[in-house]
Amino acid sequence: MDILDAQLQMYLETHCDPEPETLKKINRDTYLKQLKPNMLSGHFQGRLLSMLSKLVQPKLILEIGAFTGYATICLAEGLAEGGVIHTIEVNKEQEETLEKNFRLSGYSDRIILHIGDAKDVIFGFTDKIFDICFIDADKKSNLAYFELIIKKIRPGGLIIIDNVLWKGKVYGEAKDADTELFRKLNDAIAVNTQVEKLILPVRDGVLVIRKK
Ligand SMILES: C[S@@+](CC[C@H](N)C(=O)[O-])C[C@H]1O[C@@H](n2cnc3c(N)ncnc32)[C@H](O)[C@@H]1O
Repeated sequence: MDILDAQLQMYLETHCDPEPETLKKINRDTYLKQLKPNMLSGHFQGRLLSMLSKLVQPKLILEIGAFTGYATICLAEGLAEGGVIHTIEVNKEQEETLEKNFRLSGYSDRIILHIGDAKDVIFGFTDKIFDICFIDADKKSNLAYFELIIKKIRPGGLIIIDNVLWKGKVYGEAKDADTELFRKLNDAIAVNTQVEKLILPVRDGVLVIRKK
């Protein structure tokens, strides 16, 4: 899940802030114990999420797709005083790991974990307006999540979507269904005049969207 070559990745990781010890441990444990460990954001992308969050100083964050909580903790680093992050994970088997990792991070009192399908949980957020939303769950639903969330983001708030370069396939010749879904998403956001947008060629492609 990485379009950057290993040498460049190493250079980037040695020229940004070090990975905090807790996150290093979560990263290691994820690679030891999880079936698809490379779903986790990792060092460099994690520092990007942390920095974006610190720039926005959010009161309310939403993450769709928690996995082992790595990105949740990175985003929580930027929360304003009294702020909270809601994170949604459909896989109940992740609950124990997530709770353990959140405790370890020291942010557990600022993280609200929802176990369930993201769309159901989001429909329940009738009165919430978020400052940041990180979309990183079932890729086929990305556009649907964007359309749901754009109504629940404040002007000036960010929506961040992971994996949008899809291993570089979106700008190549690939015709498979997943690649087409990412092309459709990127094309729809590119012409959406409600938002400013930039695809950052970080890891598998991070789309940063700012609501006008
Ligand atoms: C790529 S991983 C998330 C990685 C995490 N955001 C990070 O950067 O460390 C995607 C997660 O989304 C979860 N997921 C998939 N479909 C979902 C859905 N419909 N609702 C909520 N979570 C979902 C998966 O179980 C998986 O744990």
